[in-house]
Amino acid sequence: MELFNVYSLYDITLEKGQGCFVWDENGDKYLDLYGGHAVISIGHSHPYYIDKINQQLSKIGFYSNSVIIPQQYELAQKLGKLSEYENYQLFLCNSGAEANENAFKLASFHTNKKKIVCFNKSFHGRTSAAVAATDDRTIVAPVNVSDNFFFCELNNEQKLNEIFLTNEIAAVIIEGIQGLGGIHIPSINFLNTIRSLCNKYNALMICDEIQSGYGRSGKFFAHQYAKIKPDLITIAKGMGNGFPIAGVLIHPDIKPKIGMLGTTFGGNHLACSAAIAVLDILKQENLIQHALEMGIFLEQELTLLQNKYSHIKDVRGLGLMIGIEFQSPCQAIRTELLERFKIFTGTSSNKNVLRILPPLTILKPDIIYFIQALQSILSNL
Ligand SMILES: Cc1ncc(COP(=O)(O)O)c(C=O)c1O
Repeated sequence: MELFNVYSLYDITLEKGQGCFVWDENGDKYLDLYGGHAVISIGHSHPYYIDKINQQLSKIGFYSNSVIIPQQYELAQKLGKLSEYENYQLFLCNSGAEANENAFKLASFHTNKKKIVCFNKSFHGRTSAAVAATDDRTIVAPVNVSDNFFFCELNNEQKLNEIFLTNEIAAVIIEGIQGLGGIHIPSINFLNTIRSLCNKYNALMICDEIQSGYGRSGKFFAHQYAKIKPDLITIAKGMGNGFPIAGVLIHPDIKPKIGMLGTTFGGNHLACSAAIAVLDILKQENLIQHALEMGIFLEQELTLLQNKYSHIKDVRGLGLMIGIEFQSPCQAIRTELLERFKIFTGTSSNKNVLRILPPLTILKPDIIYFIQALQSILSNL
């Protein structure tokens, strides 16, 4: 059987990962500044994480949500504490898109309305409502087309006000930091405006922290740079460090009803043990503070490069979620970083923007190696 060919692949086969590094089948070592789409939070093959998963697997790997799964309670308790959302409720599922689908359903059930505000350059996943809220018409199939979604320019308060004035809005969905769109940060004022408009018009605020959450921004959630609390927060990626698990954090005023949401695999024993290990390591190794410090260092170094090389137009981001915008498309730079310097980096929907999303465990020498590689490339352009 052939694979259904939907991915553009590098001709690389990875065999091993350790910390911020991966090795291919020829033994070549790569610095991973991409974390497989911002998924690797605590580093590859962390021994505590492996041990936790192994231990769980040797007892029971899976049972469905028809029995009590104690690991779900432990996960919810630890997540509530570390994220400072102890009074919220947790619904567990399997992927980012699924988390957003469930957030939309909850908002719609709760408000009895169906219109959603989303933003230009957004990405929320590829399933039906998630893709309808995504600003990329090329991945929206006719079956996903819906007139329930209104797109607004990010940080445009006037436009947002107008949408609320003329429509019955159920929810606003915003990424903590826009990822695939090219690293765009909603302003603190804008987040406050969304919060107050949602309060005023009885709509829910959904924050998609699937990429920007779990410490990547230097806070547990990127929206915590503003002092607002969304009603729903969606999480995935860094949550399981590669083990598929996702979730929705749900405001205490939103009441559950048996059968309201559901999933076969969500919150199974093995997935929860992976997610618990991630939280334990984030805490034990103080990785959120570390991500903040490494992010500041990386941005400073990039700004120095920007001052020296006019090829760099902008450097932006928070913590270890950084976008480098070049004056022109950067695919050749990305390829040279990979082939000559053995460094993985990420693309974005803006061809000029390189995304840097390393494991939160990255160290200064790794950052310096990357800066020197980039400098060497830029000095030859
Ligand atoms: C902000 C954001 N939301 C949602 C998703 C979708 O997540 P998944 O691919 O796990 O469905 C992604 C994935 O890149 C994302 O970056």
